[in-house]
Amino acid sequence: MTGADLPSLPSPVPGACSTAWVDRLAARECPAITARRARRARESGVPQDPIVWARARGANVEDVDGNVYVDLTAGFGVAAVGHAHPAVTRAVSRQVEVLPHAMGDAFADPTRVELMEALCARTGMDRVILGLSGSDAIDAAMKTVVIARGARGRPLRVLCLAGGYHGLGSGALPSLGYLRAAMQAPFAPALSLYADVVPFDTPLPSLSAYDAVILEPVQGRGGMRELGEARLGEIHAAARGQGALVIHDEIYSGCGRTGAFLSTPLAPDLLCLGKALGGGFPVSACLGTARVMDAWGNSGGAAIHTQTFLGHPVGNAAALATLPEIDALLPEVRRKGEALARACATVPGVRRVTGRGLMLGVHVDESLVVTRRLLERGYIVLPCGEKAEALGLTPPFVIADAQLAAFVAALGDCLR
Ligand SMILES: Cc1ncc(COP(=O)(O)O)c(C=O)c1O
Repeated sequence: MTGADLPSLPSPVPGACSTAWVDRLAARECPAITARRARRARESGVPQDPIVWARARGANVEDVDGNVYVDLTAGFGVAAVGHAHPAVTRAVSRQVEVLPHAMGDAFADPTRVELMEALCARTGMDRVILGLSGSDAIDAAMKTVVIARGARGRPLRVLCLAGGYHGLGSGALPSLGYLRAAMQAPFAPALSLYADVVPFDTPLPSLSAYDAVILEPVQGRGGMRELGEARLGEIHAAARGQGALVIHDEIYSGCGRTGAFLSTPLAPDLLCLGKALGGGFPVSACLGTARVMDAWGNSGGAAIHTQTFLGHPVGNAAALATLPEIDALLPEVRRKGEALARACATVPGVRRVTGRGLMLGVHVDESLVVTRRLLERGYIVLPCGEKAEALGLTPPFVIADAQLAAFVAALGDCLR
């Protein structure tokens, strides 16, 4: 498997080995997590039997039955520089040998400092709280809003946009654009609802009652849809005028996905990054301006925000190796993104293509059925949108032109 291979399917999808692993998984994993064998999607009745991944490289994934796929998701947008990029795996191996773990808020190591400097240099932000997942970064942003605005002496109020997705951590769950009611409703007894959700494309209400607005400049799970610079500019102006903080959740759209390191030049007060940042390793960051972040005050010894694995050296090393690779690939993201969007738009059955760079939503009828047909032809895509109205395409930036062309042909077959 070179990373640039076309699909090769010697076994059925899923094959006998995937099926056996999924049965063992089902016996031990909390049943709400991975779709099980012989389950069908609630909405469409489409089979959900997953494949089990064994190896990945570049834009290829191989399952435990030896089937090789082209991954048009980059594993939820994570493998932007390609699965198992050699520079990342080398950096990780070296770091594991030298210092696999430091001590959160107690004792840092140089990789943490270097990563925070590299992130500030790319984003124009001043301060960083590192984390392990996107949800960690969102939690850190929400806590920062509380700290920065808490003196107002009333409960936190945050505004977010319908279709936004900010993870399922307990900081985000209190209605921060949770995408689907089903993701929030079971937890209602434990939640204090501090967020209001407003429609994606209507004017915002007055922000005077709000402490912050959180948004994805390009919504990912919500359908790969751009807010647009004009609307984003209006939101920024309203927030500035009325004293609310602006949080950009660029966990999906950031780190080069739209063809620039960030999807917008407009500077927020807080910025969340994750997914692609670690090149496959779990690392995330909540960045902020000095004005907002310094409201935390200095640590007096026992930090009021930390984690055992905060600033993990292996994640830092992975991110430090990933960032220059992302920088170098930005022109390719723009070129491939434009070509892919143009090609998909000409496929009969495609209603429209949304998004930018290699963050595209291909709107089709019965996206769950099409997703399954594509998997059975060796192409991994995920549905996206509030009603799963589109196929989300977020391939590795290194995907080969021939892989993209073959995908577009397969899409045409699946829509026929
Ligand atoms: C925009 C956005 N924010 C936050 C998250 C949550 O990140 P994680 O799943 O790493 O906690 C996601 C995950 O898909 C996301 O797309």
